[in-house]
Amino acid sequence: MRIATLQDLLFNNMTDIYTAERLLLQSLPVMASLASSPRLRQAMEMHLEETGEQVERLKTGFELLNAPAMIKTCPGIAGIIKESEEIAAKDIDREVLDAALIAASQRIEHYEISAYGTLAEYARALGLPELQRLFEQTLAEEKAADQILSGLAEGGINAMAERGTSASLDEHAHPAAYAAGVGAAEKRIR
Ligand SMILES: [Fe+2]
Repeated sequence: MRIATLQDLLFNNMTDIYTAERLLLQSLPVMASLASSPRLRQAMEMHLEETGEQVERLKTGFELLNAPAMIKTCPGIAGIIKESEEIAAKDIDREVLDAALIAASQRIEHYEISAYGTLAEYARALGLPELQRLFEQTLAEEKAADQILSGLAEGGINAMAERGTSASLDEHAHPAAYAAGVGAAEKRIR
């Protein structure tokens, strides 16, 4: 599709983040299942629920534009997922894996914060307040999720990774499950 106007670019970027959110719906459950810290797992599961709502919000946005919700490729998010997959597949201590999962999740959040911030501004510039509100709502959720992750990292998970000790003894999914699950995510949404 030719991109001639700011609205074309808005649609292009919406398709990108829609693809990213759909990929995350597949990979977040696997990432959450690898967390040893119950608080981290809970935070990731909560954000998974929000991600489902964000996908619906984007569908509403496409309807407002009278445009189709399509999946394309999103090399940005796919790359971040691949990097986290690579580290989880290594011989890595569970406490350190928790720290790595937070880092990966925050990279994802920062990508999304940037994407939705831009979309909200494009919608404002184009005089589309309903669409702008949708993006701002998701932007607030992404920022809140990022804050929660920072709190978990600073509240002890990084320190536990440093000491190599875990606060939790619940069973820990094998990283190979992560590699298999996340690696297949991109193919599944096509
Ligand atoms: Fe999101």
